Amino acid sequence: MIETNITKMFGIKHPIFSAPMGPFYTRDLALAVCEAGGLGVLSNVNITGTDPVKEHKESIEYMIEHTDKPFGLNFLTSRNNRGVKEMVTDVPKMVMNNPKMREQCIYWLTSAGSSKILPASKNFQELREKSEVKHFHVAPAVWLAQKCVDANVDGIVATGGEGGGHQSYERVSTLVLLQQINKLFPDLPVIACGGFATGEGLAAALSLGAGAIAMGSRFIASKQSEFHEKYKALVPPGKPQDTDLFTGSFGPIRLYKNKYALEHPAPQTKEAMIAYEKSITPEQLLRDAGAYDRVYKGDTEEGAVLLGQSIGIIDSIDDVSDIVKRVIKEAEAAIKSNNSMIK
Ligand SMILES: Cc1cc2nc3c(=O)[nH]c(=O)nc-3n(C[C@H](O)[C@H](O)[C@H](O)COP(=O)(O)O)c2cc1C
Repeated sequence: MIETNITKMFGIKHPIFSAPMGPFYTRDLALAVCEAGGLGVLSNVNITGTDPVKEHKESIEYMIEHTDKPFGLNFLTSRNNRGVKEMVTDVPKMVMNNPKMREQCIYWLTSAGSSKILPASKNFQELREKSEVKHFHVAPAVWLAQKCVDANVDGIVATGGEGGGHQSYERVSTLVLLQQINKLFPDLPVIACGGFATGEGLAAALSLGAGAIAMGSRFIASKQSEFHEKYKALVPPGKPQDTDLFTGSFGPIRLYKNKYALEHPAPQTKEAMIAYEKSITPEQLLRDAGAYDRVYKGDTEEGAVLLGQSIGIIDSIDDVSDIVKRVIKEAEAAIKSNNSMIK
């Protein structure tokens, strides 16, 4: 057993979280991670045509029906995102009014936008006062971690540039980011994210001041994840260099280098991104809008395949409980081995 500030904060057995992976469903994945002793996170689902608020509410209902374990949910707080205001008003209200939800739905993770939007919601304020819920925000750079601290978060998810999906322009590696954050905010609860798939990675994160890791790509390659079999099949043979940064609707995004990705540039700055966005034709906009829908249905060439460099250290598609057990066993062995070097 590995006990940390994060396992204690959330009352979980293992310091392993699943990373949110909107716009895709991660209900069965989150459930499997919770049952395996980690903390599963529901994604902010917004595949074209769905109602994100309704989807989140249904996902929460699904979770409390199938498990008694604690779990989390993600809110994309970019103003471009559909239904943000309703989401931060309606979802806390629903959770507040249901004792089982209030007890289990304890990890509220905002990302891809402001860390202030959720705490500004009166309904969330009430929930936070009357329950044990914690608010974390994803910080891909140290100046963003400072903004999170200013917004009075309970902790952050420090996500480095090797991670899959949406990224920041800073492109700081997880290794450097964790050390920066540890130095500046030594008492801040941190979940390390981006590039983790093994127990050695977990051991490294713990020695860099994190209290847990969150994994995305590793859990995509699991039997329980709701990703298309063709998507999963890209992971085990994948190499880190099969992914790169391209443009996405909220800035840079790490994608698998397929036909869709290679049609998009990778702007180095916000200014270059804005200039690129202005050049996009209505036809291309329409085509890009269908990229998630296409990949969800199995089109891994013309769809957006979000994956991290960690695919290079994932060898098989496994059961979630085996992944969790293996990561903990490897981490314990790595920590013991490191300890034996001290003379
Ligand atoms: C398919 C996919 C979708 C993602 N969608 C989201 C999202 O909706 N919200 C978010 O905060 N991060 C999102 N991310 C980023 C992950 O939460 C996490 O930071 C990333 O997967 C970590 O890198 P790893 O894949 O090496 O574990 C996504 C990543 C992937 C691979």
